[in-house]
Amino acid sequence: MSRKALGVLVHGAGWVSAQHIAAWTHHPGTQVVAISSRSLDSARKRAAEFDLQDVGLYDNLQQALQHPGIDVVSICTPQHVHCANVLAAAQAGKHLVIEKPAGISMDQLRTMQQAVDDSGVKTIVSFVLRWNPLFRMLKKMIQDGAIGRPYYVETDYISNNGSWWSGWEDARTVEQGISALLVGGCHAIDALRWFATTGEVEAAKPVEVYALSGGYRKGSTREYNPLSNSWAEGASPMEYDGLEVLLVKFDNGVIGKVSVNADCIMPYRFPIRIFGDQGSVMDNRIWSHQFPGQTDWVELPTISPDSSDVSHHPFQGEIDHFVECIQTGVESHCNLQDAIQTHEVVFAAQECYRTGRPVTLPLD
Ligand SMILES: NC(=O)c1ccc[n+]([C@@H]2O[C@H](COP(=O)([O-])OP(=O)(O)OC[C@H]3O[C@@H](n4cnc5c(N)ncnc54)[C@H](OP(=O)(O)O)[C@@H]3O)[C@@H](O)[C@H]2O)c1
Repeated sequence: MSRKALGVLVHGAGWVSAQHIAAWTHHPGTQVVAISSRSLDSARKRAAEFDLQDVGLYDNLQQALQHPGIDVVSICTPQHVHCANVLAAAQAGKHLVIEKPAGISMDQLRTMQQAVDDSGVKTIVSFVLRWNPLFRMLKKMIQDGAIGRPYYVETDYISNNGSWWSGWEDARTVEQGISALLVGGCHAIDALRWFATTGEVEAAKPVEVYALSGGYRKGSTREYNPLSNSWAEGASPMEYDGLEVLLVKFDNGVIGKVSVNADCIMPYRFPIRIFGDQGSVMDNRIWSHQFPGQTDWVELPTISPDSSDVSHHPFQGEIDHFVECIQTGVESHCNLQDAIQTHEVVFAAQECYRTGRPVTLPLD
């Protein structure tokens, strides 16, 4: 069998990697040629699960990068090792899919961007909800003028992250996870940026942030599991505040409100509210000047972003888009440079907690 056009190394063989492997395998022009992880056993298990018989298996990224035929690396490790992974892969000239959060400090993100610029590789950061069917419908409707010009947007990432998630031990600490907003809430910031502009493939530029943090769960060893609706004692505690609420101003004048709530006692939800000068959106319901006889909200029959399960996330759409970017030499709207603006809001919130004052972007 002849080899497909693009060879892929998947690095970090945990929960999300299965979705990357599935998407790369399903794409007719790409092929997973190697898997690497901290332990060889994890890499081997993932390969077996997908019946990938001729793939290279590694427990060392530098060695894996030497495997023949690698054009792209999917970085599926925990956030605190993304920077080192990106530097190694970019220097080896590989295109990059980088899981969110892309890095854990602005310094890291700038260093990563420099390495990407120096090597000229293409990047995409996994703000995968941009390919969620409801996101796609809403973006198209906003572009077509269904609600006029947006002036106010609200998005929330409401997810009691805890030990039900395999990545929790890495994400729950201040040193490696940083904040609830960085770990999961960055999806909601990205959505806020995505819906705060009318451009087809454009995310708005944040220029000012004011943030408050609180909640009750930080430091607690009593943990709620939203999947089983049960409680357990003796959990390793989350080291940062579970609740962060931010006001964000964009350069086009749109005001946003975004929150992360990891203290919630409820199943995962991702609410969306978009207010325009000629209509409004409440999740999958729309009120529009284009429906003049409307007596009730029109419900959009589509898939909402209402599950934290990675198998529900539209990784295929993200990967298909990135392959097209590589093949046509076009930058993704969701590349590292764009994602840095989403991360900057997270770090602006941290600065706001320190100073108690609104923070102007870009950060110094
Ligand atoms: N875009 C999304 O919606 C989405 C959804 C879920 C997760 N994520 C992100 O994806 C990343 C991974 O999350 P996950 O849920 O897959 O976590 P996970 O299940 O813990 O998987 C992480 C994997 O990385 C490996 N690893 C850890 N440290 C490593 C190191 N120093 N070098 C090489 N491999 C290392 C682990 O290896 P071993 O098994 O070999 O020990 C583990 O298999 C995180 O950044 C997370 O935020 C994104």
